[in-house]
Amino acid sequence: MVYQNLLIETRGPIQYIVINRESKLNALNKDTLYELHIALGDALHNKEVGGVIITGAGPKAFVAGADIAEFKGLDVNGARNLAHENQRNIFNVIENFSKPVVAAINGFALGGGLELAMACHIRIASDNAKMGLPEVTLGLIPGYGGTQRLTKLVGKSRAFEMILTAEMITAAEAYQLGLVNHVVSQDRLISKAEEIINKILKNAPLAVAAAITAINAAGDNATNGFDTEIVEFAKCFATADSKEGIAAFLAKRKPAFKGK
Ligand code: COA
Repeated sequence: MVYQNLLIETRGPIQYIVINRESKLNALNKDTLYELHIALGDALHNKEVGGVIITGAGPKAFVAGADIAEFKGLDVNGARNLAHENQRNIFNVIENFSKPVVAAINGFALGGGLELAMACHIRIASDNAKMGLPEVTLGLIPGYGGTQRLTKLVGKSRAFEMILTAEMITAAEAYQLGLVNHVVSQDRLISKAEEIINKILKNAPLAVAAAITAINAAGDNATNGFDTEIVEFAKCFATADSKEGIAAFLAKRKPAFKGK
């Protein structure tokens, strides 16, 4: 497959997946999500690949979220399908990947970008990175597992604050919350991610895969939570406020929400 929105490189046992839409801060549009699904399948089935590093192209963004332009005109059914299919085909696939997946967060990780990073097993951030789930500023909520994974990673009270205020946090704050495992300078980001994957690859692959399955099973009562998120995410698309939030972002103006 020739990728238009990803750069794929295999060096030794590591597969690098680089989200490559720098002019849109690597926002996840439909095509990119489809390519990501294919690339993950390839990495899973390729016996030469021991682990995966996901990062974003350029110095500014890991992924600045789902592509907001594609939310325009989405109705409740379309939104439900979007969230359901991408959760199942990408975000849950990463979480349950039998090989280690490390997010190298090289800049903004917002909305779907932070959700992508949170689906990975380990997160390394560069010191310029900023993270957040700003969906409520668009009249929406996270739809790719964010309400569930953030709550698991940082606890309910921090998740409430981050999601309800929509504020971004710095890499240093994310480290304090346990949201990222390490913070390094941007020039050391990939080598730090490689260092961790290489440590893991010294260990027994089947045991690593079993440990991933077992760790994911910890407190696994999330199935209903993910379903709830899909339903609530989709319902947002029936509101006038979501149309206003999306239109305002695209027109580069402040939204005027009416609670409808
Ligand atoms: N979807 C679609 N396009 C996006 C995007 C997204 N999530 N995030 C950024 N872009 C686009 C911008 O529209 C702009 O495109 P243009 O040059 O064609 O106008 C380009 O990427 C650069 O972004 P810009 O906003 O000009 O950069 P900035 O440095 O001023 O601000 C951010 C950076 C990350 C703060 C800002 O882009 C932003 O708030 N993005 C949306 C974040 C978000 O709400 N994500 C959750 C989506 S559910």
